[in-house]
Amino acid sequence: MNKIGQDIYIASKYIIKGEVIVFPTETVYGIGADATNEKAVDKIFKAKKRPADNPLIVHICDLEMLNSVVSDIGEIEKKLIQKFWPGPLSIIFKSKDCIPHNVTAGLDTVAVRMPNNTIALELIKASNKPIAAPSANISSRPSGTCIEDIYDELEFSVSYFIDGGNSEVGIESTVVRVIDGVVNILRPGKISMEDILKITDKVIMDDKCLNKVDDNEQVLSPGMKHKHYAPNTKCIAICSSEHNNIVNKINQLISESDDNICIMVTSNNIDKIIIKNNVNIIDLGNNLSEVSKNIFSSLRKVDKLNSSICYIQGFELSGLGTGIMNRVIRACNYNIINTWNLKLF
Ligand code: TXA
Ligand code: MG
Repeated sequence: MNKIGQDIYIASKYIIKGEVIVFPTETVYGIGADATNEKAVDKIFKAKKRPADNPLIVHICDLEMLNSVVSDIGEIEKKLIQKFWPGPLSIIFKSKDCIPHNVTAGLDTVAVRMPNNTIALELIKASNKPIAAPSANISSRPSGTCIEDIYDELEFSVSYFIDGGNSEVGIESTVVRVIDGVVNILRPGKISMEDILKITDKVIMDDKCLNKVDDNEQVLSPGMKHKHYAPNTKCIAICSSEHNNIVNKINQLISESDDNICIMVTSNNIDKIIIKNNVNIIDLGNNLSEVSKNIFSSLRKVDKLNSSICYIQGFELSGLGTGIMNRVIRACNYNIINTWNLKLF
């Protein structure tokens, strides 16, 4: 673990030289490189084994840097920036030529955000470069929310890891694009639909955020098509609008099986789960903020338990719950036991 430190100056030197580093943001850890250096950005794709058709988010530290990478900042985008930056909101703009085509995956747009994390902001400032950074994990694996979870899978492709402790939010930024005056949420996160409704009444959640995307379907964000967050262990989400139904269903599944089972539920449900030798329980925390913080490290823990199946409690589709459910249903590869009166497919 000798590449780990807290030296922003060393990390910025690597960025300037065209190398790749891992750094903390308030959402999840990022694997970053100079967003204006095509070869450096290529190293990110290699390190993550990321499909070339999935564009990256560019991180900036001030509005001057934003203006250097995008054109046409509309009135609604200005309002979003004023209200939510620095913070966990990525906004899609028209890209300028200094951003190479691998960052945008050939699109004419680029996603940008100003992270609300002192280390990330100082790193961008010290490098004096916009930093392209997807989540720090091998593609399709759960995102990294602490260095210990990701060091082994990225050690040999990254020059330096800045350790900033556990990520504060725990799920990635909300991604939005304004189309014809309407804010389209393309990936839900901590900045929720309800938050955005405070600045405009024209907001829609793209239905692909919670529904499976067919291979030949057109999407507004390439990431919607890719496999995400999945442990090797098969996971199934247990959803219901009636909270008691979830626990009852999980207990029924436990009582019917002698296989090793993993259960992922909130702290208040742990006492209600049937105790059996073949059952391991992962505590997701007390409330939605804690679940958001814990979800990715919990999904990584599952594979260490040697379970044949993992049942994950579903959450309400409002506020931060929508962002959590977007991750959970993808981690479950859309395997859902759904007593919720909700169109998921
Ligand atoms: O919180 C976050 O956003 C983290 C931290 C490191 O900042 N980053 C992150 O990056 O989650 P990544 O690459 O894992 O997710 C970026 C998402 C992908 O789903 C991608 O398809 C979408 O943003 N995206 C990027 N550029 C886009 C564009 N021009 N148009 C549509 N979607 C875009
Ligand atoms: Mg990611």
